[in-house]
Amino acid sequence: MGIQQLAYVGLGVSDVAAWCRTATEVFGMEGVEARSPDGATRLRVDDTAWRVALHPGGVDDVLYAGFAVADPGALKKLTDSLAKAGITGQAMSAADLAARGVAGGYRVKDPDGLDIELVHGLPAARSAFHSPTAAAFVTGSQGLGHIVVRVADAERSLTFYQRLGFSISDYIDFQLAPGMSVKLAFLHCNPRHHTLALIPAPVPKRLNHLMLEVDSIDTVVKAYYQAQKQGVPIVRHLGRHTNDHMLSFYAQTPAGFDLEYGFGGRSIGKDWKVAHYDAISFWGHEPQ
Ligand code: FE2
Repeated sequence: MGIQQLAYVGLGVSDVAAWCRTATEVFGMEGVEARSPDGATRLRVDDTAWRVALHPGGVDDVLYAGFAVADPGALKKLTDSLAKAGITGQAMSAADLAARGVAGGYRVKDPDGLDIELVHGLPAARSAFHSPTAAAFVTGSQGLGHIVVRVADAERSLTFYQRLGFSISDYIDFQLAPGMSVKLAFLHCNPRHHTLALIPAPVPKRLNHLMLEVDSIDTVVKAYYQAQKQGVPIVRHLGRHTNDHMLSFYAQTPAGFDLEYGFGGRSIGKDWKVAHYDAISFWGHEPQ
């Protein structure tokens, strides 16, 4: 029960055209021709009608995250159990549902005030996905990818997200700055190693990064070189992570938060054991 996948993200972006250009020309996302009823420019990575919405505005950060549940019954069970825990929100309005194209939804705020949309009935696209760079994204039951967000209080956020249906994958002690270590928490809600990770530290943006996974190492390396060709800053060069085994690089999007682009993430199996790591990478991921 509970949520099954990251369905979509809504980003407030001051330069929508620049963000779109990087998303399509470097990362192979496909632009949706029509704007959403609430004025967002949208991007696809699969046969879902959209997965990333870009809302013009100056925040340059995440505005909302949509997590999918199976059906109306699952949504009712989840919102009932949240209410019992004292977590209440609001059913999404007809206008909200039309803007997202979903059949139903309920919006709650996470402990740091981020809008979390619990939705069912994701909209299917009318045409097959066509990547401008021939990228094929790993989505399906694993959802869009993962997001890594800043939180004020890790325990408080872990409790909240576990109530939504997440389980802990593992932790990494990360050296944020000399003498400043932070314990990153990674959470899963499907076989993807993590759909959400929490940074309990005062990093500049709520959204540290959005991760998209593709099915080919060539696609990652091609994007790595294309980013540099187009002057997109590489925040972390190619490397392989210790916990999810993802081979990836990080680029700074025109909104200031990063996009991790990777291949080969391992899956959570039945006998998963929570581990602690003291490094984020086996090799690479060198900062710029
Ligand atoms: Fe990541």
